[in-house]
Amino acid sequence: MKMSLSTLQKMAESHEKIAILTCYDATFAAVLESAGVDALLVGDSLGNVLHGNTTTLAVTLRDMIYHTRCVAQGASNAFIIADMPFGSYQKSPEQAFENAAALIAAGAQMVKIEGGHLMADTVRFLAQRGIPVCAHIGLTPQSIHQLGGYKLQGNNDKAAKQLSDDAKALEKSGASLLVLEMIPAKLAKKITQSLAIPTIGIGAGPDCAGQVLVLHDMLGISQGKKPRFVKDFMANSNSIQEAISHYVNTVKTGQFPGKEHQF
Ligand code: KIV
Repeated sequence: MKMSLSTLQKMAESHEKIAILTCYDATFAAVLESAGVDALLVGDSLGNVLHGNTTTLAVTLRDMIYHTRCVAQGASNAFIIADMPFGSYQKSPEQAFENAAALIAAGAQMVKIEGGHLMADTVRFLAQRGIPVCAHIGLTPQSIHQLGGYKLQGNNDKAAKQLSDDAKALEKSGASLLVLEMIPAKLAKKITQSLAIPTIGIGAGPDCAGQVLVLHDMLGISQGKKPRFVKDFMANSNSIQEAISHYVNTVKTGQFPGKEHQF
């Protein structure tokens, strides 16, 4: 049966962890969902792992539409979330709606946008017009030049309060999911407990409602330095299918992320 937003909400309410991976093509979409992955994120991380760039900034709406279509073609059951790429939603809520609608038409069931309370009006505009929104705070790769590097966010009282306030504002404006990237586990737990919507962690400890990783990272085939929060699930597996099942099982049982993967 096709996963819906309400299935994900019910999973969070019943404390079943949500297992998400990024996905960019039809073959992997089928493999991932048959291994039990609940939702597929067509991430703009494709700029890194498919295009070979050091940032996600050059990914276009056209790229995202193409890969969303490929994933939708291969997935019969998994919920599909598509990233809105840099420059496709920051100008105005109207711009965001037009571009989000194109991703929904390509097969996405939800769009993801990066940013805190300043994105609240855009989230509201989309949600009120029938487009479910996943917000994304903490380390937001599209702001890499402003953040000054891929580093831990929310690690002092002021920054932690700002993230907690952002999370509340995004929920209030109608976001249905919230990605928390690279923040202290204690802060992610506090934010998760303060919200009714599910949080999805990446480098945010074990207490989020679900987890997400970049597919190529968890298969151990990404180039460059492996972030602390990534586990190579291929290391002890005989096949890609086995590695993905292992990821799903360890997320569901709360074994991943372990202490060594958190901040
Ligand atoms: O683009 C992506 O893969 C993401 C995840 C890292 C959350 O946004």
